[in-house]
Amino acid sequence: MALIVLAADKGAPGVTTTATALAAVWPRPVLLAECDPAGGDLAYRLPAADGGVLNPAKGLLSLGATARRGLEPAQIHEHTQRIVGGLDVLAGLTHGEQAAGLTWLWGPLGRTLAGIPGADVIADCGRMGSYPQIADLTAEADQIVMLTRATLDHVAHLRERLSISKAHAVVVIADPRNYRASIDDVRRVVGQNVEHVYGLAHDPKGAELLRGRWGGRLDRTLLIRTARDLARRLA
Ligand SMILES: Nc1ncnc2c1ncn2[C@@H]1O[C@H](COP(=O)(O)OP(=O)(O)O)[C@@H](O)[C@H]1O
Ligand SMILES: [Mg+2]
Repeated sequence: MALIVLAADKGAPGVTTTATALAAVWPRPVLLAECDPAGGDLAYRLPAADGGVLNPAKGLLSLGATARRGLEPAQIHEHTQRIVGGLDVLAGLTHGEQAAGLTWLWGPLGRTLAGIPGADVIADCGRMGSYPQIADLTAEADQIVMLTRATLDHVAHLRERLSISKAHAVVVIADPRNYRASIDDVRRVVGQNVEHVYGLAHDPKGAELLRGRWGGRLDRTLLIRTARDLARRLA
C-alpha cells in the first residue's frame, strides 16, 4: 500500500515523534519504519508488546544484513517488532556509521516498503540532505511530508529545501497558543512550493506520554488529537 515519508531539512523538529504519533492513530493497518540513516531512537523509546524492551539489533540492521541478494515484502516482517499499542515497528540503525555500509539498501527498501500488501508504511527518514542516498528511498514514496518548527531559521531552510526537492505536504509543529497563526505564517513563506501546510501541536506532555504505555491519558493529549486530524488528511 502507500509509503509515506516523513523528514526534516535541518534540526530536530520532531520527525520521530510525529511518525510515532501518526502511526499510533493511523486509520489503516500501518508499519512504522525507522529509516533515518543517522540512526534510530524507537528501540530505546517504545516498550515492547510484552512490556519488556525492544531489541535494537532487530530491524533495519538485521534486514540490511540479509537483503543484499534482493528484498521482498515478506522479508520485512521477519525484522519488525510489536510494541505495546499493537503497532509493528521496523527499528532503525543503532548508529549512523552503519549507513556507510548500506548505501545500496535505500532504493530496494523504498520499493519493498511501498509494496507491502495490506499495510501503509510511515517511514521516518530523519534529515534530508545530510545523507544523499536517502533520495533513493524517498523517490519511491507516495507522499513526502516535511516537518518544521515555525521559527524563521527552520522555515528559511525548509523553503530552500522545497525549491530543490519535491514534497506533498509540510507539517508545522506549532505552539497550541497560536496554532492557526503559526501554520498561516509558514504557509505564506513556503506555500508556493508545496500544496498543503498542516499542523501538529507542540505538546511536551503528549510527547512524553508517547514514550510510555499508550492509553487513555495519551489519547486525550493535544498531540494525539492533532495527530488524528493530520492522519485523516494524509491518509
Ligand atoms: N510535537 C511535539 N511536542 C513537544 N515536544 C516534541 C514534539 N515533537 C518532538 N518533541 C521533542 O523534541 C525532541 C526531538 O524530537 P524527535 O521526535 O526525536 O525529533 P527528530 O526525530 O526530528 O530528531 C524530543 O525531546 C521530543 O520529545
Ligand atoms: Mg528522529
